[in-house]
Amino acid sequence: MSEQSSRQQQSNESVNLFSETFNQNPYPTFRILRGHDPVYQTLMPDGHIAWIVTRYEDAVSVLKDGRFIKDYAKLRDEQEQKTSHDHSSALAENMLFSDPPDHKRLRSLVQQAFTPKMIERYRGRIEEITNELLDNAEAKGRMELVGDFSFPLPIIVICELLGIPKEDRNQFRTWSNALVEANNNPEHANENMQPYVEAFVTYLQQLTAERRKDPQDDLVSQLIHAEDEGDRLTEKELYGVISLLIIAGHETTVNLITNGVLALLQHPDQMEQLKNQPDLIHGALNEFLRYEGPVEFSTDRWANETVELQGKTIERGDHVLVALDSADHDPEHFDDPDVFDIKRESNSKHLAFGKGVHFCLGAPLADLEGEIAITTLLRRMPDLQLDTEPEKLQWRPGMLMRGLKELPVAF
Ligand code: HEM
Repeated sequence: MSEQSSRQQQSNESVNLFSETFNQNPYPTFRILRGHDPVYQTLMPDGHIAWIVTRYEDAVSVLKDGRFIKDYAKLRDEQEQKTSHDHSSALAENMLFSDPPDHKRLRSLVQQAFTPKMIERYRGRIEEITNELLDNAEAKGRMELVGDFSFPLPIIVICELLGIPKEDRNQFRTWSNALVEANNNPEHANENMQPYVEAFVTYLQQLTAERRKDPQDDLVSQLIHAEDEGDRLTEKELYGVISLLIIAGHETTVNLITNGVLALLQHPDQMEQLKNQPDLIHGALNEFLRYEGPVEFSTDRWANETVELQGKTIERGDHVLVALDSADHDPEHFDDPDVFDIKRESNSKHLAFGKGVHFCLGAPLADLEGEIAITTLLRRMPDLQLDTEPEKLQWRPGMLMRGLKELPVAF
């Protein structure tokens, strides 16, 4: 064994991406990996091997490299033995699991609805929803920020945007949680997901049938219209895109708002600056996303051919995950990366929204929701404080998302 690989082995002994210690604070492990084994091979809970990419430059190159594909079905026949991953469910025909040229067709239909200009139209409504949630919390006299504020806000917004009736929203919480948890736990993914997928598909069939008969001014009606007009979306693709938007709208922005507020509570000087100068919010949002990114690891990628990276040979069919939260703490790219600084200059280069063709479609919406949520919260509750011992805060389990279970605050 060479001196380098023996050093690598020693440092890797302290690396366990599935431990509670890692879940509570992944950054020391990411530091070890970036320094000693930046393209790291790990055994996933279902027994297959995945490569974990932790340095910024490598993360960018993998996310932009067409040799790493999203559609595992292309490899399935020859790779059946390598992993039990299967995205062939009724909800998986969407842009995030497809590659060019299909990807472009699936994305361009929805893209038009998510430009910053289109999204800006929702500003007034997002402000209203934000204020209503804060009114309710004030009336109660206390607030658990996740459940009372940062979780419901993006759900209400995405459901209104799509045209999902108010009375149906609660069901989505269960479905969307189940789908994300299943993704986090591939060992049981397919068996656990099935009842939820079936319930979700039945719901979407009914909803789209209603909108087809009686179109409304909402995104579901627009997508159906696009499908009817140009035959550009199949029925399955229609369900795939709606469910992707619902899941993305449920599970990500909640972490931007919660992680951002936590960072401010832990850095009162920065909170003071933002309260005094609310126009610092745009830089602050980039720093929230960089410092404690809501999506810890990218979604799955598969090598479509053999690729050499940092001296490692990634074989065709191998599973690759990019550690976005590690890349955003790479000192080669961000000076003093563990320092939280809302005025940091280079922070717009963060990878929290990904990179390349799959760059987050919902980024303008997430930014607008984050901006309104945090500026309104600080304006209305200037004495905001953590209402628990910091060591009692618990992070949700799983690799994909990085978010707190609860954040009790006093105001
Ligand atoms: C702060 C909030 C958000 C974060 C941090 C975030 C992060 C990401 C990331 C990292 C990706 C790329 C994943 C990969 O390449 O493996 C992505 C893709 C995507 N996001 Fe977001 N997202 C957020 C909010 C949203 C919202 C609100 C929506 C829409 C309602 C949305 C819709 C999407 C879609 C549709 C894709 C797939 C794009 C494609 O494959 O072309 N996201 N997001």
